[in-house]
Amino acid sequence: MTQSMEETSVYGEAAEADAERYYAALDSFNVEPLWRNTNPRLLPGEPKSRAVPYVWRYDDIRAQLMTAGRLISAEDAERRVLMLINPGLAPEVETANNLYAGIQLVLPGEIAPMHKHAAAAFRFIIEGSGAYTAVDGERAHMNPGDIVLTPSWAWHDHGNYSDEPMIWMDGLDLPLINKLEANFFVDGPENVQDELRPADSTERLYAASRLNPAWQAWDKPYSPIINYPWSVTEQVLKSALDEWSGSPTDGVIFEFTNPRSGGSIMPTMGAYIQALPARMHTEAHQHTSSAIYHVVRGRGRTIVDGQVLDWSQGDTFAVPGWSVHEHINTENEPAVLFSHTDIPVLKALGFYQERSCPRQA
Ligand SMILES: [Fe+2]
Ligand SMILES: [Fe+2]
Repeated sequence: MTQSMEETSVYGEAAEADAERYYAALDSFNVEPLWRNTNPRLLPGEPKSRAVPYVWRYDDIRAQLMTAGRLISAEDAERRVLMLINPGLAPEVETANNLYAGIQLVLPGEIAPMHKHAAAAFRFIIEGSGAYTAVDGERAHMNPGDIVLTPSWAWHDHGNYSDEPMIWMDGLDLPLINKLEANFFVDGPENVQDELRPADSTERLYAASRLNPAWQAWDKPYSPIINYPWSVTEQVLKSALDEWSGSPTDGVIFEFTNPRSGGSIMPTMGAYIQALPARMHTEAHQHTSSAIYHVVRGRGRTIVDGQVLDWSQGDTFAVPGWSVHEHINTENEPAVLFSHTDIPVLKALGFYQERSCPRQA
């Protein structure tokens, strides 16, 4: 009998003391035996997000923002934002897995200076009219319900020359880009960009989504549109509510798209607007994507893994990936929800899954 055969024959009780010494010694090699793993997150039977279902109340966040407006100057803050931290993901700055949202205040006369970063962003306008976001030399004026894109690496600055506070929700792919360790940040050479084109010219150029400017080459992976104005979105929603029943899980739901590709507005985030008809109680489903919802109009509740999230206009809430959820419009008027998700990432990598579930209420 060879020595190696003798060594392979000492299983069972006789080997216990040797095994304990062996496990203790493994630490110094920075390895762990897979067969002793007790972490259920390593190979779960199905996804279980560490993010929790959660609602950030607009009344609370707005009051805290206004206090920040008194205490912190725009110069000191650079961006006066309250970041929405999911309690299940703290201390990481994440609102849902892969997704970030923050609520920003720009007071009359203030600017948020020019910068750019690898992480992509958009803003959904909540309050105020007439402030601008400048993107790569073009100013887009913002009104409530507009969605304004500042894609990966685009120079951007904001200015509020109106006489009222501007409040918007920033949505970014920061958690994902930081997990990928691919983020960069650059301050602009000036605080305010030079204007290279007339204000809002891209909005006029793409005013009819079925008309693409054929002379303009566009090979970037994100939408060329800076502002998707509420005036158009609202009209489309109203017509659809009159004429279509929409999806059983989401009512009348539209995705904001890149008109040059037909795909999502950005490779890392999808953005949606949906209207739930009066008193609609949707079917339940679950999907591997996470979502952050912002309540544009109305009042209702979303049941997420058995937990009831009551919401009303201005609130923001997180629906973790693979959670079972259904929406209920509790009022006699349509409710309108804006949401952003990580669907494009999951679909691009082949990990998007969705299935219908029994209702929870
Ligand atoms: Fe930024
Ligand atoms: Fe859903």
